[in-house]
Amino acid sequence: MKKVNIKNFKQTLSKFTTGITIVCVEKNNKIFGKTVNSFNSLSLKPPLVLFSLGNYSSSIKTFIDCKYLTINILSKNQKNISDHFSKKNPPTEKINFIKGHYNTSFIRDSIGYLECKLTEKIKKGDHIIFICKVINVGYNNKLKPLSYFNSKYLL
Ligand SMILES: Cc1cc2nc3c(=O)[nH]c(=O)nc-3n(C[C@H](O)[C@H](O)[C@H](O)COP(=O)(O)O)c2cc1C
Repeated sequence: MKKVNIKNFKQTLSKFTTGITIVCVEKNNKIFGKTVNSFNSLSLKPPLVLFSLGNYSSSIKTFIDCKYLTINILSKNQKNISDHFSKKNPPTEKINFIKGHYNTSFIRDSIGYLECKLTEKIKKGDHIIFICKVINVGYNNKLKPLSYFNSKYLL
């Protein structure tokens, strides 16, 4: 065991296998998406989930100000979507979206979909935790998930 520093902290966390999600919001008829693996379930009654975003993110204000958002759980053949939305201000014109109920958009061919109302934002360290109430859900039993381990996709 070693005293924690940024490098060994990140390396240790990378040993925790996660799925990958894209969190999508709409502002002024433009869709913003971000690759996020800090997604987690929080509560069953009521149905709550959470994720965190770095407060240094170029689009943090758009996420802080939104009322509704979608969380798209990626399937194994959506690695390109994960890479795309981990870039700064990625264009969304060529992404295949499905319209939601609350001026929201889902990414087609995801393995799971959550349509959420943003209920709480909590500042902690250099991140903001977003707590969301889930309103609508959907999933596809035929697809396999995209997983992330050791800072790489498991393909
Ligand atoms: C696999 C993966 C998971 C990520 N998870 C998160 C996350 O949970 N929270 C976060 O703030 N950024 C996360 N990022 C980084 C963002 O997707 C994005 O690269 C970063 O916010 C910088 O872009 P921005 O300044 O436009 O926001 C992740 C990136 C990758 C590739």
